[in-house]
Amino acid sequence: MRITLLPGDGIGVEIVAAAVEVMDAVAKKFNLALEYDKQLIGGCAYDATGTPLPEATVTSAKASDAVLLGAVGGPKWDNVEPDKRPEKALLGIRKALGLYCNLRPMKVSKYVAHLSPLKIERAAGADLLIVRELTGGIYFGEHNEAAMVNGVETASDVELYTRPEVERIARKAFEAAKKRKGKVTSVDKANVLGSSRMWRKIVTQMQKEEFSDVELNHFYVDNCAMQLVLNPAQFDVILTNNIFGDILSDEASVIAGSIGLLPSASLGDGTGMYEPIHGSAPDIAGLGIANPLGTILSAAMMFRYSLNNDAAAQAIEDAVDKVMEKGYRTPDLAAEGLQKVSTCEMGHLVAAEILQ
Ligand code: IPM
Ligand code: MG
Repeated sequence: MRITLLPGDGIGVEIVAAAVEVMDAVAKKFNLALEYDKQLIGGCAYDATGTPLPEATVTSAKASDAVLLGAVGGPKWDNVEPDKRPEKALLGIRKALGLYCNLRPMKVSKYVAHLSPLKIERAAGADLLIVRELTGGIYFGEHNEAAMVNGVETASDVELYTRPEVERIARKAFEAAKKRKGKVTSVDKANVLGSSRMWRKIVTQMQKEEFSDVELNHFYVDNCAMQLVLNPAQFDVILTNNIFGDILSDEASVIAGSIGLLPSASLGDGTGMYEPIHGSAPDIAGLGIANPLGTILSAAMMFRYSLNNDAAAQAIEDAVDKVMEKGYRTPDLAAEGLQKVSTCEMGHLVAAEILQ
């Protein structure tokens, strides 16, 4: 199995290295042959080649069974032209690989629930999956950068969806719900937006015709943002568009107590891509204190969804739990009575647990 590694910028390098150590441990335990191809993406790629998404990176990703990504971006590239920003590479590779389905699970782990900004009785029991449309909507509609129009500085971005785009992401959400608690909450802004009214119509129709065994409700996005903090345990699968999913997944992640623990999968019809949901944290890059568990758990999702190996995925998830149970924490989660470890020590610990 061939895996393209895209460490990217900032802490990306350290957290991907820790995840690779864990993947190697799993490969040893289950007797799998993993082959890695490391490529550039983001600011480091821009510095080295003049573009944040080199052709070689896309070619390697397309030829692999899966991609593991760290993070991209940093203040160093804040002033490069919009088309060459590190974030543009992320959008570019999502589009190039056709990764229209972004899965962002959020579960309140008992080890960090006390760190949730919500009262523990509200946060406890939250276990949801955001299914975010990832290759359409306002991220990919026509962009007009600020320019003078009739003497007034004007800019615009277009939110556009087609029926097939809505159907394929809705199908993923309904199918995911069938394997979970059987409930989909579709989130839109149908009281204002035409694209949302079409979204709601299509999702409603699909539930009636194909997924009547799944419960469906609809929330406007503003209400959903409120419901997430009022009662996160009411959700099972949240189905939403690209921009609402971006915003709601940050909100949901913090409820879990730490953004450093949350993984994600981006899937299409070919190679899938896996990455932690946090960013490149340039302020702590190179210090060896970043939490690699979000990336390690993303590697677990990779085994589950792209490498079709549930046992390997489970082994990683169990090992992470065990290491948490034994009281090891990176500095972001450290507290009295717990054992503080570095990024790479955390990688060693999880790997060792797998090989136990
Ligand atoms: C995310 C990030 C990206 C997004 C940025 C970095 C382009 O916020 O994956 O949620 O908005 O999709
Ligand atoms: Mg985001």
